[in-house]
Amino acid sequence: MSIIYDNKEKLFYLHTRKTSYVMCVLSEKYLLHLYYGKKIDDFINDYENYPVSGELPWTPIDIGEYGLSTNLLPMEYPCYGSADFRTPAFHAEYENGSAVTKLEYSGYEIFAGKKHLEGLPATYVETEDEADTLEITLCDNLTGLKVVLSYTVFSELDIIAKSVRVKNDGNEKINIKSVLSSTTYLFDNEFEFVHLEGSWARERNIQKKPLINGIMQVDSKRVASSHYHSPFLALARPYATENQGEVYGFSLVYSGNHIEQVDVNEVDVARINVGINPFGFNWLLNAEEEFQAPEVVLTYSDKGFGEMSRRYHKLYRTRLVRGKYRDLERPVLINNWEATYFDFNEEKILSIAKKAKSVGVELMVLDDGWFGKRNSDNCSLGDWVVDRNKLPDGIESLAKKVSDLGMNFGLWFEPEMISEDSDLYRNHPDWCIHIKGRNRTPARNQLVLDLSRDDVRDYLVESVSKVLKYAPISYVKWDMNRNITEIGSDKLPSERQQELPHRYILGVYNVLERITSAFPDVLFEGCSGGGGRFDAGMLYYYPQYWTSDNTDAIERLFIQYGTSMVMPSSSMGAHISTVPNHQVERTTPLKTRGHVAMAGQFGYELDLNTLTDDEIELVKEQIIQYKEIREVVHKGEMYRLRNPFEGRNTSWEFVYKDTVVLMYYTIFARCMLGKTRVKLLGLDENKYYVEKNTQKRYSGSYLMNMGICFCDNKDFESNLLIFKEE
Ligand code: DGJ
Repeated sequence: MSIIYDNKEKLFYLHTRKTSYVMCVLSEKYLLHLYYGKKIDDFINDYENYPVSGELPWTPIDIGEYGLSTNLLPMEYPCYGSADFRTPAFHAEYENGSAVTKLEYSGYEIFAGKKHLEGLPATYVETEDEADTLEITLCDNLTGLKVVLSYTVFSELDIIAKSVRVKNDGNEKINIKSVLSSTTYLFDNEFEFVHLEGSWARERNIQKKPLINGIMQVDSKRVASSHYHSPFLALARPYATENQGEVYGFSLVYSGNHIEQVDVNEVDVARINVGINPFGFNWLLNAEEEFQAPEVVLTYSDKGFGEMSRRYHKLYRTRLVRGKYRDLERPVLINNWEATYFDFNEEKILSIAKKAKSVGVELMVLDDGWFGKRNSDNCSLGDWVVDRNKLPDGIESLAKKVSDLGMNFGLWFEPEMISEDSDLYRNHPDWCIHIKGRNRTPARNQLVLDLSRDDVRDYLVESVSKVLKYAPISYVKWDMNRNITEIGSDKLPSERQQELPHRYILGVYNVLERITSAFPDVLFEGCSGGGGRFDAGMLYYYPQYWTSDNTDAIERLFIQYGTSMVMPSSSMGAHISTVPNHQVERTTPLKTRGHVAMAGQFGYELDLNTLTDDEIELVKEQIIQYKEIREVVHKGEMYRLRNPFEGRNTSWEFVYKDTVVLMYYTIFARCMLGKTRVKLLGLDENKYYVEKNTQKRYSGSYLMNMGICFCDNKDFESNLLIFKEE
């Protein structure tokens, strides 16, 4: 069993293959966090080891029997109102106006497997022996509040998934102001705060800053996880590299307002808080009601960032993504967006599809502009009825014609949105998120549907399903192109208005659950102006996500590298677009654009009819090559070998079964700087590998220790080598 309770010492051990997480119950009341890190078999529960030095004479001694104070103690689920003055995980107001909570240990349960999280995405098990779960219950005796802390141990994957459920077992209302999903501690402050920051078209750049004593945090208040800060945090030793050193990862499985915070106190103890952002959050919990907070996935690696990422990749690829496309190879697609934008008709789409079919593309995706009277982004969202001016015979007929070519057909939707110039808005002006009497601020000329409302959710499910039901559609791109302002709902009572940000996300999850389960054969790809909501929560519904609206191959190296900190390559939509690139006007070779896109779910985002014959020959080769390696990229272990944020080139490698795919990209050439030696990882030292093009035979030990040399003598060049194990 990976979970042990030592009743004598009052210690809880959560063991994975290589890590341990230890808690204790002090004085039968206080649940303390004692340790998370490399595996420890026997923990000495020694008060001398608690971080209590430096207590000041005026510190409230609220654990009187030990002369201790929660002021400095590592409370596993800290709440506001005691001598612990750091940022609490839990904060609520009670009917008497008090905002003080005292949570005391009340019991535990250990069971095999893992429970579903009601209404929320979460990692799962397929059989009970894949994981064990510990639930610890804490109670506030005065108010009847019950908090259940859940820890699922995926021992083989070295992962601990935490979540929190709150129940009101009292008679009075509880107004929850903060209910974070995880608090953990590191007992010194010599770490770097590592996070993924970005913007539209520049998503998930890796940033590292040393911890300060005080608070460091990233968050989102946009009712989407956002382009700006991913719901992810790593704490890494300053010397940690890709393959060495201690790294702790915290990945929140949630798509709304989030917070990742480190609060370092006066004795250098770092409290790490992760969960729903308390800013703009409030939840009224009546007697008997429950609230489920989302899951946080933790891992500890003493082998650097690479090992941390590979653990996330494996877990998310196999036990977060669901449905038939989890394991199936995904189609090579062509999307018309950058080829036509809104300016297309059936003839144009069919000509793109025909050419694509002739080179081996498997799926034609029709992007924005097929419905209502949408010739620009200023109208029609919500009216999911085909525009007969562009497609006179309708979507069914177009989809059928594409199917007749021998390709699958996919369609773009932006279901969560409503244009003011739409029949839906004219009929239901109250269906958008708004506050009576206040201006409704448009973004990209659109407002957001109020998905906290049942009627709106039902309309959405019905209108999207209607299109999917009557046409042979095998793929949906689900877009979402704005953040939410003037947050208010006509349907919620005043005391529940602040619940809207979370209720909106629950509404999105509800709609996605209904639509994806009604159409299990459809491949769903998420999108949010590119990667504006590319988070672990979304992977539960969509196996892949449009990584960024930036399709420039060189920009994509940074974006895909940063994204791979947490997300598997199998989840990253990556397409070849035209040059000069539409976002940065850079011209890169078609070969390089191909090699970059092949590190994700591969496709094209241009009109292949505009290419020269030579280019078309290369496209054919690209598709053959991608089909040869796609299972390796989809299911293989990814090793990042050269970091684009730190040099003039980058390289990564995928290893699956007997195949190794090595990709190398030059960003900027420099004169006379010598060759770059890339040492492979994850091979068997004692085996031999043959490189496909040259048929050269290398030992695993040679490839891993001597490596392969590449020259950075031309900007934007790339190489892709395939090795087969002998
Ligand atoms: C934003 C997406 O990221 C693009 O790929 C495209 O689908 C447009 N929306 C369409 O409006």
